[in-house]
Amino acid sequence: MIEFIKQLPKAELHLHIEGSLEPELMFKLSRRNNIEIPYKTIDDIKKAYNFTSLQSFLDIYYAGAKVLIHKQDFYDLTWDYVLKCVENNIVHTEIFFDPQTHTHRGIEFKTIIEGIQEALNDAKEKFGITSAIIMCFLRHLDQEDALKTLNQALEYKKYILGVGLDSSELGNPPSKFEEVFKKAKEKGFKLVAHAGEEADVSYIFEALDILSIQRIDHGVQSYKSDELMQRLKKEQIPLTVCPNSNIELKVFENYSQHNIKKLLDYDLNVTVNSDDPSYFKGYLNQNFINLYENLDISEEDIIKLIKNSFNSSFISESLKKQYI
Ligand code: HPA
Ligand code: ZN
Repeated sequence: MIEFIKQLPKAELHLHIEGSLEPELMFKLSRRNNIEIPYKTIDDIKKAYNFTSLQSFLDIYYAGAKVLIHKQDFYDLTWDYVLKCVENNIVHTEIFFDPQTHTHRGIEFKTIIEGIQEALNDAKEKFGITSAIIMCFLRHLDQEDALKTLNQALEYKKYILGVGLDSSELGNPPSKFEEVFKKAKEKGFKLVAHAGEEADVSYIFEALDILSIQRIDHGVQSYKSDELMQRLKKEQIPLTVCPNSNIELKVFENYSQHNIKKLLDYDLNVTVNSDDPSYFKGYLNQNFINLYENLDISEEDIIKLIKNSFNSSFISESLKKQYI
C-alpha cells in the first residue's frame, strides 16, 4: 500500500512555501545573509518544533522566514520544494506565499515573487511540473494592509492566480477582509481562505457567503454543523485538509481522532495536503501514509482523495483530463 501511495501522481493545493523551509536551508541562509536565528545547530531547530496550537507554530514560522532576503533565497526555498514534489510524485501544485511576512521586513514584492516564479518555471521545464501561485493576506494584520498588498500584486498579476487568507484565525474572522476580497474578485483572482482550522463554523459560513471563496483551506470544523455539512456536500465545495498539520497543532489529539475519513464517507470534496511540511513532519506522501496507517483508509479512498485534488485545482479542464 505504501508503494501504491508513493507511485500515484498527485496534486497539492495547500502548501505554504515558507513552511517548506527545511532547517538545513534556514541554517545555510542565516549564515549566507548574516541573520541571527535563536538556534545554534540544526538539531536545536528541530527540537523547537513542538507546538501546542496554531499560534505557537506561527511564532516560530515567522521567525524562521527572516532568513529569506534575496531573490536567490526565494528561488532556493522554492526549488527545494520542487525537488520534494519530484520525490512525492506531485505533478501539479498550487502554492501559497505570504508577501506581508517579507515586505514588512523591507523586502521588495518583486524580489519574492520573481524568486518563486523562476523556480516554478524551472520545475516546468526540467520536470514538467505544473503550478500556480496564491498570495495569502495575513489575517492578524488589518484590511488596509491587505489592500496595499493587493495593489502591489497587480503589477505581477500574470504570476499570481489567486488570493487567500492565513495566519492567526481566532479573533480574525473572514468578514474583516470583505472589501479586499471583493476587489480581488473584480480583478479576476481566484479566491480561497483558511477557515475552520481552529475556529468555529461561523468562520466557514463567512468565508463562503461574505468572501465568496471557491475552496476552503482546512475546514475540518465543518462537522459541527449539519447545515454546513449538507451544503458542502451538495455544492461539492473543496476542503484542502492537512492531516499532519492538524495533529502537530493539536486540532485533533491524535491521528485516530482525525475526521478526514468521516468527511470523505459523507461525500464531501476532501483533499489531502501538507500545509507546512518542514514543520509538520513530512511531505504529501507521509500525510497519505499516516492516514493509511491510522485511519483504515482504503486504496479506493486514496484514489478518490487524489482525484478530488485534481478536480478541485485551478488548472484548465483539458489539463485536468490529462492528469486524471
Ligand atoms: N494556518 C494559518 N496560517 C498558516 C498556516 C495554517 O495552517 N500555515 C502557515 N500559515
Ligand atoms: Zn495553511
